[in-house]
Parts: sequence; C-alpha cells; structure tokens
Amino acid sequence: MAFRLFEGAEHSSVYAKFRSVWTADITDRVLTYLQERHPAPYDHAIDVGCGSGQFTQLLAPHFKQVTGIDISSNQISEAIKGNQRKNITYKTGSGECFPIADQSVELVTCVQAAHWIDMDKFYAEAYRVLKSNGCVALISYTIPEFGAHPPAKFLTKLLGNYYDNLWRKSCCDEMLNRIKHLSNRYPDEIFACRPPLKDHLRDDTMAMEHDMTVEEVVGYASSSSSYVRYVKKYSSSDILETLQRNMLKTLGQDATLDTVLRVTFPVFILFGRKPG
Ligand SMILES: C[S@@+](CC[C@H](N)C(=O)[O-])C[C@H]1O[C@@H](n2cnc3c(N)ncnc32)[C@H](O)[C@@H]1O
Repeated sequence: MAFRLFEGAEHSSVYAKFRSVWTADITDRVLTYLQERHPAPYDHAIDVGCGSGQFTQLLAPHFKQVTGIDISSNQISEAIKGNQRKNITYKTGSGECFPIADQSVELVTCVQAAHWIDMDKFYAEAYRVLKSNGCVALISYTIPEFGAHPPAKFLTKLLGNYYDNLWRKSCCDEMLNRIKHLSNRYPDEIFACRPPLKDHLRDDTMAMEHDMTVEEVVGYASSSSSYVRYVKKYSSSDILETLQRNMLKTLGQDATLDTVLRVTFPVFILFGRKPG
C-alpha cells in the first residue's frame, strides 16, 4: 500500500524551508562506499523519494547527471523551484517503479523515505537500473537530540514526546508500524538489500550537527507529515505552541525564539551493491 503523505502545496513549502539538514560528510560516506566498488568517473545517480531535493543537490558535484524522483508532484515543484544545478532533473515517479532506463546509473539513494516504500519492489528496481558494481544507499536520521546534560536532555524529551503524541493520535496502525521502522533504524530483516544485490553494510556511526534557533526547531517540528494530519484532525489544537512554550520554559527566562541550540541528527545508512 502506497501512502500519499506529502501532497499539500503548503506542506511541501514548509518542508523545503525547514528540512535542509543534510551535510556533505554524509554524501562523502556514500561516495566512499561506491568508490571502493565502482571507481569514478560517474555518469548518473538517482535519489528516490527526493522531497524538495535536500540530498539530491549534494550529489550533483559528483555525477554528470542526477535525477530526483518523488511520488508527490508538490514536492517535485518545490525541488524544481529551489534547483540551482544544471545537471539535476526532477521527475514525479514512484519508489516502486523508477522512471529510469535499465543499467543506466551508478548510484541509487533513498533518503528519509524508505519506510514509506515497498522494499521488495524498490530493490528489484534498484537492481534493474544499476550498472554492474553500482550501489544503493538507504540514508535516514532519527529524532534530533540536544545534548546529554540538563536542560538540553529535557529538550530532547520534549521533542520525543511531541512526536509520540502526533504519531499516536494521527496515524493508523500501518503508518505507526512504518514510523517504528525509522525509529528502530531500519531493521536489517526488512531493509537490508536482498539477493542478487550483495555487500550489505550498515553504518550507524554518523551524525549531523546544526545550530538552530528555537523558532527553527519548532518550524522543523511542523514540517512532519504527521503534524499536517494531526492539525487536520484536531483543528483547534495548539500542540506546536505547547512545544514552543515548553522549550522556552525549559531554557529559562532569558530564552527567546532566537536562542540558538546545538542540534544533533543521528544518521544511519544501509548499503548494497549490484554484483559485476
Ligand atoms: C520525509 S520525506 C524525505 C524527503 C527528502 N529525501 C529528505 O531527505 O528530506 C519523504 C518523501 O518520500 C516521498 N515518498 C513517499 N512514498 C513514496 C513512494 N512510494 N515513492 C516515491 N516517493 C515517495 C514523499 O512524497 C516525500 O517527499
């Protein structure tokens, strides 16, 4: 069953504004795995479930062409609007049936999207479009964290509770199940590449660090598809305002929306290769 969760134009625009979290060290890690199996130069990479192109853009310097694919035409419109690279093309298409020719790409990435996609079909498509020794990488992060000491530790708890509340009250069982896969860092038994793909490897060591204002963290929290569903269901809800109020209270009386926080996004990556 395909979920259509990122369909609203307004949601896509909020998503584009608050979700630019991907950093070049993550792309470098993916390229290292690829280079060890398929030496450069590279012709074509595809980014499946590309959203508004946050990760797609980081691939562009390393490939002659990059194609971002997403099931939501509003996400694709936002990606096209923000595109500053001549070698990136964005296409509407599904993670179960890529609009891409056989054996034409060296890399398939799927970033923060695999839990919404049928993995058997995704990997069959990855096998079809990859050249020999081309690679696939599922890349994601879990809920952001604010540090180990109070009050940062309490901020992490507040954000975790906010998401728990959204998920419990706005998601059906099947959606909850998929979100659980993300929180559990894509368990190998469901997400690891299958034969004839090989070389499954998991990297759980990376994290992205950002300085974000309280306002940006709250904006980030509003970009979740669960928040959009929650607000539709409970139109008079002040769940976001409550999060903001509790964050400011936790930070103390001098805190404002412009107070800057060090935010960590724990990253995990699952790799695979098409045999030569
Ligand atoms: C959480 S967003 C991730 C976007 C982007 N990759 C990022 O890292 O921010 C998930 C994206 O997956 C897309 N998506 C969900 N199911 C899909 C499917 N079956 N095929 C292709 N894209 C899908 C959604 O439209 C959405 O843009």
